Amino acid sequence: MKVTGSLIFFAFMLGLFVIACRNSSSDNAKGLHPTDVTATTNGARDAHSYSNPEQVRVRHVALDLDVLFDRKVLKGTSTLTIERAQAGADKLKLDTQDLKIINVLASSDGTGFAPAQFTLGEVDKILGAPLTIQLPPQATKVAIEYETSPNASGVQWLEPAQTAGKKYPYVFTQSEAIHARSWIPLQDSPAVRVTYTANIRTPKPLRAVMSAGAKPFNAAAEPGQTGYAFDMPQAIPPYLIALAAGDIAFGPLGARTGNRTGVYAEPVTLDKAMSEFEDTEKMVEATEKLYGPYRWERYDILVLPPSFPIGGMENPRLTFATPTVLAGDKSLVSLIAHELSHSWSGNLVTNATWRDFWLNEGFTTYLERRVIEAIYGREREEMEAALALQNLKKEMEGLKDADQILHVDLTGRDPDDGFTLVPYEKGALFLRLLEETFGRERFDQFLKGYFERFAFQSITTDDFIAHLKKNLLDPNLQLAAKISLEEWINKPGLPANAPQPQSDAFAKVEAQAKEWLDGKTAAAKLETKQWSTQEWLHFLQSLPKQLTANQLKELDKAFGLTKTGNAEIAHQWLLISIRNNYETAYPRLEEYLTSIGRQKLIKPLYEELMKTPAGKERALKIYAKARPGYHPIAQTAVDKIVKKA
Ligand code: BES
Ligand code: ZN
Repeated sequence: MKVTGSLIFFAFMLGLFVIACRNSSSDNAKGLHPTDVTATTNGARDAHSYSNPEQVRVRHVALDLDVLFDRKVLKGTSTLTIERAQAGADKLKLDTQDLKIINVLASSDGTGFAPAQFTLGEVDKILGAPLTIQLPPQATKVAIEYETSPNASGVQWLEPAQTAGKKYPYVFTQSEAIHARSWIPLQDSPAVRVTYTANIRTPKPLRAVMSAGAKPFNAAAEPGQTGYAFDMPQAIPPYLIALAAGDIAFGPLGARTGNRTGVYAEPVTLDKAMSEFEDTEKMVEATEKLYGPYRWERYDILVLPPSFPIGGMENPRLTFATPTVLAGDKSLVSLIAHELSHSWSGNLVTNATWRDFWLNEGFTTYLERRVIEAIYGREREEMEAALALQNLKKEMEGLKDADQILHVDLTGRDPDDGFTLVPYEKGALFLRLLEETFGRERFDQFLKGYFERFAFQSITTDDFIAHLKKNLLDPNLQLAAKISLEEWINKPGLPANAPQPQSDAFAKVEAQAKEWLDGKTAAAKLETKQWSTQEWLHFLQSLPKQLTANQLKELDKAFGLTKTGNAEIAHQWLLISIRNNYETAYPRLEEYLTSIGRQKLIKPLYEELMKTPAGKERALKIYAKARPGYHPIAQTAVDKIVKKA
């Protein structure tokens, strides 16, 4: 005990010393040298990684990969630059999932590589298999030759038919939360920040893009191939490494500040995407004004094919986005405000472990709303916040107490399970309460200081709380008395003083709904002309669960709901249609479920179908057709829904 105690103390002091030295380096500001407050400096361990950064730490990843569409495989080498965090440490432990490890080599100077011994451990269903590499004493680089499995959880391979253009295959990665290890062997913990470079070869004429800067390619590509080169000189957590390849075109957006924003999309989608996202540069400027400079040079958006399993992913310099936000009227661009905001909360200041996920998503949801308010006004912000609060309350009703907690315990579980509205909306409400309590000016200053203080670091909930106390609560004790940290961070449900975002516009929508339900006004005569997407969503959500066949017919006839091109409105309408067995909508339901793979939009529809025997039959029939087009993550999720009962 004594020995361990003093060892821990020694390690702790060493940690403090290292942090102090690093923070004084001016390179830190640009993130050129990683400055990790590791998950272990304050006792927290990452329950979702086998890696051993406290002994040997990966600093840089150099990828060299061929994109092999015919085999659905990424094949090549990942060369890791390592540093001894503990003198004499002789083993490097990496995370892998479904990787075929062909060979491992080590080098002391980056030139002479000699074979190194390695063992691949037992496979855990969630965490994958640890790859343990025996390090020669002087080794500074380790090269791993490997290939991915066609079923890699973080990679989706699309046939031409699954793309918008239908002509070429497409591939993309989705690394968050712990899927980077399914396409790169590395220390897959958000506390292990790395810089990265990549050489990627694709068959002509397909283009590769990554979450990094593009560089001229100088390694030889085979005839029929094109080589792309990338460089991410800022230290990022591994879940932000991302790659896509396909028939991808580029269009610049807004030349206001040095042409730093643009859109990548399949050629048939590009024009629509460019006009939908025309406010992007304005959003970057609004966020900078609130929280300090955008630190990642470019901000581009990649619009993926419709099977993209999530709404958006904040891959640095290149947000990945679902095409289901292309509504034609910019009404769903809060998704862009969200992913852009991650450039501060998440990518600059990162959750050290997945239990601290709310530091990424709660902060980002709060920032997103501030950006929406700055650009589209308070009323739009209020509508989005009010919708979100309704959804949070509804979802929490079905969650165990343990899953209603911000600092959630995910040990032994797949961190993708933490993907509920709790870290997003409860987290955002907590920050909103801080804003309302301490005043917007003081709170904005606080947040700006927080991003500055922890830039390019990965931090835990405790790190945040210590910073919050020191810089906001302790200097304002009277106001701080209104905030119960314990309740917000460690207790289920919403504290009694949680903000209750409300919208006047929604009150009017409810009044219109009542007019119709009471039979006083026909649907076609309701005052809906000026309604935004958010008002439509609220209208549909506020209707009673049971509607008659005639009521459904009337709504559909008046508003063309079955054929709406807005994916969110269609989703709400299809839910209502299933619930009330409105058969007219079933062909659209099938078309919807077989053409879109975004989980948030498809999972609730399958869940609703599974509630009746006839619905179950329909669900199974549609799913048999739809499943091959879904992402591996979405397949796993929908499998669970249709298998039970
Ligand atoms: N970082 C998340 C996506 C994510 C979270 C992927 C956890 C894997 C595991 C992203 O920023 C996000 O929150 N996307 C949302 C959209 C947003 C507008 C709430 C989504 O995909 O629905
Ligand atoms: Zn997010």
